[in-house]
Amino acid sequence: MKIERPRGTRDFLPDEMEKRRAIEKVMRRIAESYGYREVLTPTFEHLELFTIKSGEGIVEEIYAFKDKGGRDLALRPELTAPVIRMFVNECTGMPKPLRFYYFANCFRYERPQKGRYREFWQFGVELIGSASPLADAEVISLAYRIMDELKIDFDLHVGHVGLLRHMLRDVEENVASKIMRLIDKKDVEGLEAYLDEIGIESDLRDSIFSLIELVGGREVMDSAREIIPDFDFGHIERVCDVLDSLEVEYRLDFGIARGLDYYTGVVFEAYAKEGLGAQNQICGGGSYRLAHLFGGDDTPATGFALGFDRIAEICNVEPERKKIVVVVSFKGLEGEAFRIAEMLRDKAVVVTDVMERNVKRQLSYANDLNADVAVIVGERELREGKVAVKDLKSGEQRTVGIEDLLGVI
Ligand code: HAM
Repeated sequence: MKIERPRGTRDFLPDEMEKRRAIEKVMRRIAESYGYREVLTPTFEHLELFTIKSGEGIVEEIYAFKDKGGRDLALRPELTAPVIRMFVNECTGMPKPLRFYYFANCFRYERPQKGRYREFWQFGVELIGSASPLADAEVISLAYRIMDELKIDFDLHVGHVGLLRHMLRDVEENVASKIMRLIDKKDVEGLEAYLDEIGIESDLRDSIFSLIELVGGREVMDSAREIIPDFDFGHIERVCDVLDSLEVEYRLDFGIARGLDYYTGVVFEAYAKEGLGAQNQICGGGSYRLAHLFGGDDTPATGFALGFDRIAEICNVEPERKKIVVVVSFKGLEGEAFRIAEMLRDKAVVVTDVMERNVKRQLSYANDLNADVAVIVGERELREGKVAVKDLKSGEQRTVGIEDLLGVI
């Protein structure tokens, strides 16, 4: 009986893995160039880490289980809460700000579809310790640089959950969360029905709908000011100033509510323009406060996570290809072939026969591998300290001294 993999999970064959590694390499390079250093937290955590503030949407999707000791654990649905837990437990004495990045798998029990998996990967950063607009501007521009360098065609939207939260300040917290969640899902009908159900004041209702429709250039800030005159727009203005000076292209969007509950300030999302259909959100982030909920001091932080699987789906990065050499040997010379192969591995990918095949079939396998060069180890040449080198692309063949082989390949 064949055993299938679980729904919503994926296998990655070598071609796909090589492409993913190439993309990962670009992300790491750029994050490191901004001073971010890699961290890693456990795959599972205490369940409560995610129930405290991640929001109902995430909690419903958690892979939770009891271990043999009866403890409630969960596979991480994201890494922001784990990274802040780690920060509170181990890093509070470190000089601030802290710049961390991660690349790790996450688990959400969602309805599987294209671009939406139950195990997926995030590449993300958390900048911990600053509440300045400069911190938001840095992480937004970092996310932008990565997507830009990967030649993704995307729209970046920047907003501020503070506006919606300010508007909903007199509404009960769980009601406000539900409203935010409907806004996040862009479920306008659901939102209308819910606002009716709770009998919201009509002025507030109008303000909510006017605000979430505001998408555009910096001029929409003025419209937002008209809707919420007593909100301080200074912070987001300054973020925009920096982004403008860096020529980051974005649109203001005050309808961004984010699916997680912990955001407090500037938030942003990026959507791929093509290739992903409904699951086109490839990046999400913003500023938040979590440290005080995990037993630490109230510490501002900001960050983002890129949806790695979605990006890999639409990104056309060519993985770096090393030269492939196949060392072909006549019977009895396998040991020599192994030794020559070892000598060449500093410079190329080198493959030897392990199937006890004859020379013809070894050469045919070299073609299957799309190899560049075959080094043929034969009795007669070997006696003179030589081997035959065949260029598998041109078919050209010549005899080379073993000591010159490295230079030839
Ligand atoms: P998020 O928006 O929930 O944010 O997830 C970030 C990205 O992960 C999404 O934009 C999407 O591309 C990808 N993603 C989410 N769910 C799935 C899925 N089921 N299958 C494939 N890709 C998925 C966060 O997780 C926050 N922790 C981001 C953050 C970091 N905020 C501040 N710091």
